[in-house]
Amino acid sequence: MALGNVTVVGLQWGDEGKGKVVDALAAKCDYVVRYCGGANAGHSVSIGGQKFAMHLIPCGVFNRGVVNVIGNGVVFDPAVAIQEIDGLLQRGVKVGPDSLRISSAAHVVMPYHRRQDALNEAMLGGGKIGTTARGIGPCYADKAARWPAIRVGELTDAEALREKITRIVAIKNKLLAALYGEGPMDAAAIADEYVAYGRRLAPMICNTAALLRRAVAAGEKILFEGGQGTMLDVDHGTYPFVTSSSVSACGVAPGAGVPPSAVGHVVGVIKAYTSRVGAGPFPTEQDNDTGEYLRKRGNEYGTTTGRPRRCGWFDAFAVRYAADLSGVSTLALSLLDVLSGLEEVRVCTGYRLDGGKLAEYDPTVLARAECIYQTLPGWKDDISACRRMEDLPAAARAYVARLEELVARPVGFISVSPERTASILRGDLVEGLA
Ligand code: IMP
Repeated sequence: MALGNVTVVGLQWGDEGKGKVVDALAAKCDYVVRYCGGANAGHSVSIGGQKFAMHLIPCGVFNRGVVNVIGNGVVFDPAVAIQEIDGLLQRGVKVGPDSLRISSAAHVVMPYHRRQDALNEAMLGGGKIGTTARGIGPCYADKAARWPAIRVGELTDAEALREKITRIVAIKNKLLAALYGEGPMDAAAIADEYVAYGRRLAPMICNTAALLRRAVAAGEKILFEGGQGTMLDVDHGTYPFVTSSSVSACGVAPGAGVPPSAVGHVVGVIKAYTSRVGAGPFPTEQDNDTGEYLRKRGNEYGTTTGRPRRCGWFDAFAVRYAADLSGVSTLALSLLDVLSGLEEVRVCTGYRLDGGKLAEYDPTVLARAECIYQTLPGWKDDISACRRMEDLPAAARAYVARLEELVARPVGFISVSPERTASILRGDLVEGLA
């Protein structure tokens, strides 16, 4: 089966292990494209014992010949991007105009966005969202407001950029002083900094939407790499405890500038349990020894912020909803090894609400929902060396089969340790990309 394009999305609250799946599938693709979010993402790839934590640069950079694209739907922080590019170059990973293209229409994260993000959160106190403080929300807000927004293409016109930054910073300074009692930011210093970024990045900046539409027309293979997870989607997640972009497969077309039909085969990445960073409802959360066990074994500390992640059981009701939203055809299951050693494992199959069983998933009622669990036998064995389904303990196989049933999709990829090669491939997900 030839699969055409592929879209990889997270079906939980982010940190599902998308980096490893993208890296595996990128080997068969011509382009890997980020279409949403920004440096709030933290995609990990482990190669030969070396761990790479990617925030802005697509995870296709580890595969030669792949063109990596930062699409127009991304909020682009040039400081983070340059740091990441330099870090990769130092470690022998080639990143340059041949392998990385940045959309001239992506919006630029400015120092005042990061500052606004942190000050907003501090002002909200106990009601805060728990953002990554990367300036994501304020940058998307300015994109929607239009007048205070700066796009990547504008970084290359030094004179116009200086003039625009001076104008915007004067207004931002008034806002920061009035709302938070903050001192002024130095517009000239910010302009110098961003003019220098423009000079450095200019060879990589282009009209990526046109590039990708040409690729679609030529039948080249594109992988769209989702950030965060569906439950953090600005429209369909646990609003207001979400990020500020469309992270499901529904965000691909506007975020990359391609027709919706270019989305292709959708792979939904799930973790064998659930984690969440930041505030907001989380029905299957285990704020107890089980949660601690999962956090320790899964090393559940934020890739971007280092914050301990909240951990809990797999929520099949939520994942089914997320898979339906994105039109997922195959699941990629990660961190199955983390569950090893538990006497029993639980899966949430639905919610009870106001005395009845909730018929349709609804992310707005989670705070009042009570989980309905099914308990399955656990397994003791270390499964990190398993490379075929038959190598897994019977209880682990039964767990995977139950998830497939509940989410109504096959699992085509199982990761059993962070290392690039530690996976079980089923069906023709990877071969189909050839
Ligand atoms: P923001 O995207 O920094 O505004 O954060 C909004 C919410 O999304 C917070 O709860 C963050 O912890 C969460 N979040 C944003 N990006 C990621 C991610 O890549 N993984 C997990 N959580 C994320």
